[in-house]
Parts: sequence; C-alpha cells; structure tokens
Amino acid sequence: MTKVRVQTQRSTISRMASSSSSISLGCLLALIALLAQARAAEHSVFTHKNASSVLGQLVTSSTLVWESYDPKDAAQLQYAVEGGKYVTEDEHYPIYVCRVPIDGIQVSGHTEKILQRHVCLAAHYKHGKYDNFDVLMNKGHLGKVGWRHWRKFDAGVPVGAIRIGDDSYIGRHRAPGQPNNEGIATHWGADFNLGHLDPVGLGKIRVIESQREKYYDDGEVLVETEPFRYELRDIKLDRLRTETQENLTELVTRKLENLEDKYSTVETILSYSFDYNQYWGSHEGVARGLPTKIFEKDVSVPAEIYWALKHTERKSENKAVHTKLWPGTAINVTLRGVYVTLEAPYSGKLFAFYYGSDESVSRKISAEVRKSYLKEVKLEFSPVYFIENGTIVPTTTTTTTTSTSTTTHATTTSTNEPTPINEPPLVHMKDQGVQHSGPDTLEKTLHDSPSSNEVNSHEAPENMSSNPGKDVALAGFGGNAAGSISTAGSAFLTLLLTVFMSL
Ligand SMILES: *[C@@H]1O[C@H](CO)[C@@H](O)[C@H](O)[C@H]1NC(C)=O
Ligand SMILES: *[C@@H]1O[C@H](CO)[C@@H](O)[C@H](O)[C@H]1NC(C)=O
Ligand SMILES: *[C@@H]1O[C@H](CO)[C@@H](O)[C@H](O)[C@H]1NC(C)=O
Ligand SMILES: *[C@@H]1O[C@H](CO)[C@@H](O)[C@H](O)[C@H]1NC(C)=O
Ligand SMILES: *[C@@H]1O[C@H](CO)[C@@H](O)[C@H](O)[C@H]1NC(C)=O
Repeated sequence: MTKVRVQTQRSTISRMASSSSSISLGCLLALIALLAQARAAEHSVFTHKNASSVLGQLVTSSTLVWESYDPKDAAQLQYAVEGGKYVTEDEHYPIYVCRVPIDGIQVSGHTEKILQRHVCLAAHYKHGKYDNFDVLMNKGHLGKVGWRHWRKFDAGVPVGAIRIGDDSYIGRHRAPGQPNNEGIATHWGADFNLGHLDPVGLGKIRVIESQREKYYDDGEVLVETEPFRYELRDIKLDRLRTETQENLTELVTRKLENLEDKYSTVETILSYSFDYNQYWGSHEGVARGLPTKIFEKDVSVPAEIYWALKHTERKSENKAVHTKLWPGTAINVTLRGVYVTLEAPYSGKLFAFYYGSDESVSRKISAEVRKSYLKEVKLEFSPVYFIENGTIVPTTTTTTTTSTSTTTHATTTSTNEPTPINEPPLVHMKDQGVQHSGPDTLEKTLHDSPSSNEVNSHEAPENMSSNPGKDVALAGFGGNAAGSISTAGSAFLTLLLTVFMSL
C-alpha cells in the first residue's frame, strides 16, 4: 500500500470543542497531578493464587491496593475494604482493614474512630493504636472481596487470601458478646476483631481482643475472587472529543489488457489486505489481558479482545473487475480506500464474571477507544491505451470517469460493439467473498441521536450494592455499608454472611 494523501478530517465545531476541551483537560490533568502528589501512596496487595501452574504462589491483585491513610481526604475511605461495624449506644460506623509496620513487620488490624480521625488498632501493647497506617482499598470495584469461614481443619490457606507480612493472611474473629442487664448478649465496640491467619501447622487466627493477643481455631479469612473474563456493553462515545484521521490509500493497481484478436471481455481479480485494529483502553483496577467481549450497538457478534491490549486482525478482500477492450489495447485499474483511525473517549459498562458463580458484577467505566479500519473502497481506471506503444487511444471525451458500479454479473459480448475511438469503456466492479471494509460500527453510532456524552465513573457496581446477601459478607464498600452481594450459592466459595456466623 502506498500512502497517497494524508488528511485530517474534523469538523470546525469539533475542532473548536477539542481545542477548548484540551485546555480545560490540561488544567484538569495538572490538577489531578497535583492532587495525586498530595494523595496517599499506594502499595501492591498480594493474594494466594488459584491457577494450577502457580498454585500456592502469590500474585499481585489487580483490584486491591494498600493506601496510606490521609485524614484530610474525606472521600478516601469510600473504597476501603470493610472489616465489620463499630457499634455503641449512639454510634454505628464501619471499621476498615488496616496495616502498620511494627518492628519492621506488617501487622493487620482494623480502624477505629477517635473524634474525626481513624486510627489503626493492631497490637496489644502501648495501646496498639497507630495514626500512620495503610488502608486496604478495593478501587477497581470488580474484584469480589469477602470474608470466608475458616476452620483449623480446613486445608491450609484459601485461594485468594490476602497476604500481610511474611506468611500470614488477613483474618478476623467475632468479638465475644457480654450479657447485658436483661441477660441478652450485646456488644459495644467493634463486632469483629481483625488480625491474621497464621498458617503454621494447622493454622490459627490471631486477633487482639480486649488488649490481649488471642488465638482461635476458627474465624474468617478475607479472600478476593478475581474475574476470569469481562464483557463491555452500553458503549457511548464522547462525540465532541471524537477524532478521526483519514488516509487515502492506494490498495492495489493492475493492468487489464486484450491480447486476443477480437473485441472481448477482460476480467481480473484484485486482492488487497489491511489491518483492522481496536484498542479499548485500560482502567484502574481492571485486569490487563483478561478475555473481553465487546458488545457494540447493532453488532450481532461481539468482538473478542484481551482487555487493555491492542487487537489487530489482518483482513483481506477481493474484487472482480471486468471491461470490454479492443484487440491490442489495455487500461490500468486501481483500487483506493480511506484508511480511518478513530479515537474517542467513551463510557461503558464493564461486566466481570467469576468462576463458580453465574452472577456478574458490573460497573461503569470511562476510557479511550482507538480503532483503525478501511472504508470507501473505490475503483479508478486510466484511459484506454495501445499495449504496443502506450499511446492513449483517442476518444471524443477526454475526461476519465470513475465508476463505482457494482454490477452483479458479467455481460456477454454484445452485438453492437462500441468503437474504441468514441467512448471510454465501462468498467464493472464486483465484490468477491466476504467484505470487511466499510464505515466502522463506532463511526455509525456517531450519526445516531446526540447527547450521550456523559462520562462518569465511580458508580457502585450493580449486584454488589443491594440484595442482602445469601451467603456472602461484603467487604469493601464503605459508602453503602449495608450492602452485600449474593453469589450463586457455590459450595466451592462458601463466603458466609457474618450475621449467620455462629461462634
Ligand atoms: C496511512 O495508511 C497506511 C496504510 O494503510 C499506513 O501505513 C500509514 O501509516 C497511514 N498514515 C497515517 C498518517 O495514518
Ligand atoms: C480456579 O481455576 C480453575 C481454572 O483454572 C477454575 O476451574 C476454578 O473454578 C477456580 N477456582 C476458584 C476458586 O476461582
Ligand atoms: C445481576 O445478577 C443477575 C443474575 O442473578 C444477572 O441476570 C444480572 O445481569 C446481574 N446484573 C449485573 C449488572 O451484573
Ligand atoms: C499504466 O500503468 C503503467 C505502470 O503499471 C504506467 O507506466 C502507464 O503510464 C499507465 N498508463 C496509463 C495510461 O495510465
Ligand atoms: C501505437 O500503436 C497503434 C497500434 O499498434 C497505432 O495505431 C498507433 O498509431 C501507434 N501510435 C503511435 C504514436 O505510434
């Protein structure tokens, strides 16, 4: 393919809009950069992995991070993983999973509020309350995080357990209740004490209870279930910030010649190929490389890509071209197409699917899509010339016409033969086999009804916010503390609802 002409096509309105939006975008980015500097530091979280090849190994979680607590950031804890509730006569608030380094070793605990600040309760000595600590965050909102029942005689560390320190995993144990005046067991304070699962031997759960270190043969372990595939749906382009680059490209050129001794039909097949590319961007907390089906509007078969990786397919097309020529004459035929690169911010709904569960979790995401494709393949042809000396056969009309005719069947030799001197030939083009070029599905949606430019993330995922859970204790949605998810009652992943936990 030879590059013939490079042309950037943008309407005036979108150019104006994009330049002003790039200024405000610049400001926004600068602001974000500033905020990010002021923002808490993040550290990776390691989980105990499920994959036969890496069984028992640790992998970096794609959705969880440790973030240093910032008392000035009021919104920070909205993504914090919940460890339980703090209940007093007049107060009722979620407590979160935290960690502090004690003597160089990370120790897990839970937060408690002192006035308007949170502290991390992690050790039994020196009051064990720390002002500087990390909080466990479920940023991507697509990892399911929950507390799974654990007993000493269960085999080892559950898949997805979250590592803390050298070889221990986040665990908790229900705080014992004390009988009140009426003899009913009540409990003021944290309903769970957070600590860790120490897998040495058959294992034990270690927590701080009433300022003392306690060991239990059962409890709960925090596990993350990672999705194994995604689906992207409800895709909406931000059309004001959509940019297309069009590149008129010569695809193939060929000579059609009549070497016979009579006026006859000459036919050839023109073949060419092009790269069809798509890239749907990346997103915080969404695992790179996971198989993803893209459901675009009005497309019956979803594209299958790997999330956050560029997807390229080499596509080939064939076109049959025929015309009638006088002996000893020829024409040159050329196919040109417009190779488009479309870039646009979009919003969409990403659904995550988990092993052992029929239920998906979805959240709205915003990212940028980039697609390259070929459209408007056209036939061009030269004047008729003599094969022998290349001289153009004189015609009465000197202009060369371009035909995009797609006449479906070849015409047989007609009786009233045209004289080469007077008329330019009729050249017919016909598709052979499957055609892949044409305006892209995304480009088509740009012409749909306007006003769908909302770009808005951070919505709580569905199936995670309502539904008082059957068998899952939800962790990690500080915003809606009451929320629980329900997974299809998979016996394999028995995440027990804390309320039903018996001691
Ligand atoms: C134009 O298209 C050709 C091939 O189709 C490609 O190699 C080239 O990079 C494109 N040029 C631009 C400016 O996009
Ligand atoms: C672990 O992975 C296998 C496939 O590799 C899958 O069949 C199984 O359900 C997974 N288990 C969990 C708990 O994710
Ligand atoms: C929630 O789960 C149900 C199955 O119980 C499923 O049909 C639905 O699509 C899910 N919704 C989302 C947003 O994932
Ligand atoms: C036809 O194509 C050949 C090269 O393939 C070129 O040399 C010649 O000038 C072309 N003739 C016309 C009439 O375009
Ligand atoms: C080229 O060849 C054709 C036929 O072979 C002849 O009719 C024509 O006069 C030639 N033109 C020139 C300029 O030699």
